[in-house]
Amino acid sequence: MIHIHRLERYWMIAIGIVMGGFVAALVASVMIYGVRLTTPVGRVDPTHLENTDVATPGLTQDSAHAYTLRVVAQMWQFNFGVKGQMPKITLQRGSSLKIVATSKDVTHGFYVEQHNVNMMLVPGQISEMDVVFNKPGIYHIICHEYCGPGHQNMVAVIEVL
Ligand code: CUA
Repeated sequence: MIHIHRLERYWMIAIGIVMGGFVAALVASVMIYGVRLTTPVGRVDPTHLENTDVATPGLTQDSAHAYTLRVVAQMWQFNFGVKGQMPKITLQRGSSLKIVATSKDVTHGFYVEQHNVNMMLVPGQISEMDVVFNKPGIYHIICHEYCGPGHQNMVAVIEVL
């Protein structure tokens, strides 16, 4: 029988509790809060997006309550085919949205307020995420990766009616 000093035993128990807490938090984030990683669905040449999934940025309706939003992030805007300083799309409550996005130049962020969407848009990679909007409101899409002097202007809006 190995002798373990009393203090050492306390530390081992404390570490066990902390590690157990981390694992529980990880399991809860996946099982209860539905946190998912971004799916990288393809690699592309960021300078030639014309024959890719994001060739035509914009919102398309796939069925009654399902939409796809194709986005090209670039310095310093989210291009989804809507003109203006702060592009906006409008959805009905209960709509599901598949976001297919990439970057044309540098790494941008794609974060949707109050929803489980938090992607890094890396040039050369197409990323995909699904999200459902159950509550009416105004949700901003924010670039959360510093991408240059116009970074703070990279905002778009999803309005849920
Ligand atoms: Cu794009 Cu910060």
